[in-house]
Parts: sequence; C-alpha cells; structure tokens
Amino acid sequence: MDGTFNENDISRIVEADKSHIWHHLSQHKPYETSDPRIIVEGKGMRVWDQAGREFLDAVSGGVWTVNVGYGRESIANAVRDQLVKLNYFAGSAGSIPGALFAEKLISKMPGMSRVYYTNSGSEANEKAFKMVRQLSHAKYGGKKYKILYRDRDYHGTTIGALSAGGQDERNAQYGPFAPGFVRVPHCMEYRAFEQDGAPVENYGEWAADQIEQVILREGPETVGALCLEPVTAGGGVITPPQGYWDRVQEICAKYEILLHIDEVVCGMGRTGSWFGYQQYGVKPDMVTMAKGVASGYAAIACLVTTEGVFDKFKDNPSDPLNYFRDISTFGGCTAGPAAALENLRIIEDENLIDNTTAMGARMMENLAELMDKHSIIGDVRGKGLFVGAELVSDRESRAPVDEKLAQAVTADCMAQGVIIGVTNRSVPGYNNTLCFSPALISTKDDIDQITQAVDGALGRVFG
Ligand SMILES: Cc1ncc(COP(=O)(O)O)c(C=O)c1O
Repeated sequence: MDGTFNENDISRIVEADKSHIWHHLSQHKPYETSDPRIIVEGKGMRVWDQAGREFLDAVSGGVWTVNVGYGRESIANAVRDQLVKLNYFAGSAGSIPGALFAEKLISKMPGMSRVYYTNSGSEANEKAFKMVRQLSHAKYGGKKYKILYRDRDYHGTTIGALSAGGQDERNAQYGPFAPGFVRVPHCMEYRAFEQDGAPVENYGEWAADQIEQVILREGPETVGALCLEPVTAGGGVITPPQGYWDRVQEICAKYEILLHIDEVVCGMGRTGSWFGYQQYGVKPDMVTMAKGVASGYAAIACLVTTEGVFDKFKDNPSDPLNYFRDISTFGGCTAGPAAALENLRIIEDENLIDNTTAMGARMMENLAELMDKHSIIGDVRGKGLFVGAELVSDRESRAPVDEKLAQAVTADCMAQGVIIGVTNRSVPGYNNTLCFSPALISTKDDIDQITQAVDGALGRVFG
C-alpha cells in the first residue's frame, strides 16, 4: 500500500462504513461486534485491506469481474481522457468510444452485429426480455411471449431478471414474479442421478430434450426465447455435458425460439475464448455481457444481437411503435466503452485468452491432485479460469457438505491470504461448490498458491 491512509483515517472510514453502508448480500449482525473488511487498494492479482493485509484474489473482485487485474493505468487514462472530452450523452446519439468498442466487439463475435449499451448484467438481460415481448406483440399477436430459463442459472437481481432465476434461495421471499417465465431442468451431469429418468449414456442430449418437453407442454407457439448461461456460474459452475448445445440449437431452430446466451460471467475471455458460447459452437440470436467487459474499471453492459433480430425493429417505420422503445440513462456514459476498448486491447496484446486456457488447465490439474488427497472433493468442473470444486460428505451418495463447512474452507483460505468463493444463497442445500475465477493474468505461481491454500484449508476443516 502507498500509505495514503493513516490509522486515524482508516478508523474513521470503518466507523462511517459500519454506521452507513448496507453491504451487498451480507448479514450485518456480526458487524455489531466486528469490523467489515474494506478493500483499499489493488495491484495485479492482489488487493490490500484496511489493516494493510495482502490477499491473492482468486475471484476477480469477488464476482468474476476484474479480468485484466487491478491497477491498470492505461484503462484509467483512457477513461480520464474520455471524461474530460465528453462524459455523457444519452444513447439515442452515438459516441466515439461507443462506436469504436462496438466495432471491435463485433469483430470478436462472428454472426453478431448490433450492440445495445446498458449498465449492468441484470439490465442487459431485461432488455433482451423486453425485445422478446415486443416481438411477440409485433409479429405473433402477443402469443409468443414466454421466456424459458434453466434451473440453477441466474440472470440478475431485478424482479424481471429474478423471474428468470433458477436459484430458489436467491428468489426466496422476493415474489411474486413476472408471469411468462418458465423453468427448464438443469444439465448438471454430476447430479443427473437426482433427475427422474436421466440416462447414464447420452445425458447431454437427454438434458436438452427435457427443454423440448417443456416447449411441447407450454405450446411452441407461446415460447419466444430460451435464456441460458454457457457455463452456469453461481448455480454451481456447471459445464455443459457432451451433445447438449447441438441439441439445444436444433430445438430452438425447430420451434423458432430465440437463443439468448447470458455471457455476464463467461464473456471477455474467462473460459479461454472471447465468449463462452464459442467453446460449444453455439450461434446465438442475443448475447448479454457485463462483468469482464471493462473489468470493473467502469460500469458497462451490452446486449448484442444479430442483424436479423435488429431488422425486426425497423421493418415498418410508419408504425410509431416499430422500434425498440427503451432507454438506459447510464447506458450513455462514455467511460464504459472507453474502458472496455482498452480492456479488450490488453486482453489481445497480452495474449490473455491463451494464458487463460493454459492457467485454467493447470488449475484443473492441481485440483485433480487435491481430489486424490481429499475425498471431500466430489467433482471438479471448469472451463478456462472459471473453475468449481464441489464438496460432498460422501462420494458414493454425493451428499453435499453442510454449507457452513464450505464456508469454513473459504474463511481458512482468507486467513491464509487467498480469497476464494463459494456458491452463496443459490440452490437450497447446494451451497457447497468452491469457486475459482482468478484474473486472466494469473501466473503458474498464483494458481499454485491458490490450490495450496485450498489444500491446507481442506486439511484443517475436514481433518
Ligand atoms: C450469469 C449472470 N447473469 C447476470 C448477472 C447480473 O449481473 P449484474 O449484477 O451486473 O446485474 C450475474 C451476476 O452475478 C450473473 O452471474
């Protein structure tokens, strides 16, 4: 740390925080007797708290966000230069960084064409849902309005996005939700045995066929879109089974259902390709992204569509309702695309996609070795630097460990100076998957330090 804060400053800040801050996703009772952690500074893969303690951040800012690491002066400079030139104008007009980033982004997304700027992942998903609803009214007499979402997936925090929320603990007590959202079963092979009728062979195709069953039950003419994460994040780091995506695409094509891919976590290199869907040969109609788009240096999210989807919103200009009648005030902030442009340049110039593939493989190898040593690890899953380790009390029955024990592992790692994650208030009874998503700049030493911390923690917590 550079010592900007002295002891007095820090205790004042802790007091201000304790008195006035309502932390996200946190129970505050413990803060009556202990201090919340305040993150003061970050550089590369590491952050420092109010006491000057250093942590290796294996979760990119807690929620899969800081893909290029902390302290990037070139992004700060790009944002600063843009802000003094033009900080804001509503998105009905264009901006220089907005146009440049859109062009660059689309060059990484063959088949996609149009970028709609917003300021959070939830909001980007809401925009996609609104497009589906508008198309239903404009093209299908209001009938094709249903949006399918999957058990265990998450698409955001607003009531609309929670209506497409497949994590019952996240949703609990926030209903009633918006009508017209319909759940399809998950595709988690490790827990296939918990699904009625799931086969051992060809599970991926079976899991996709379950989506078709829902479509047939609802009536294909009522289903407008299917919204899926390429690799499910907070629902347990679920990599899709073999054969899943091909079948999903066939089903969407068969029933004229738009395929909306939520890349809020997977986007911008996290899985070892620019976008997670590209790992599986998927051709989406709509893609939403947020977290890693500017690595948290500015708030920016995007909904990207094909030209085909875009065209439907301008094919009858004499109709006053025939365009996407939506606005996002902060979608017009220019800091977002300015930061995103520099973020993308860094990923390209520093070859971070390849590094992600290589370091992700190392993390999977290290965790496989830990699996040999600790029977509490039931399964290790991942793609690139997006990895999960599911903890089970018994490998035979695959019974999940009590979440308090999983949390004890993260606490032990924290005490060792390594921040890892765990599925949190997600699927009832299954908050048992350790989550790893270090920045794409991770080195072998960083990866080894993370898995060594987990090794020590598992030894202490489970003996
Ligand atoms: C897959 C996915 N979609 C959407 C969101 C919502 O993004 P935001 O928090 O920016 O609204 C998240 C957040 O964790 C997410 O994991």
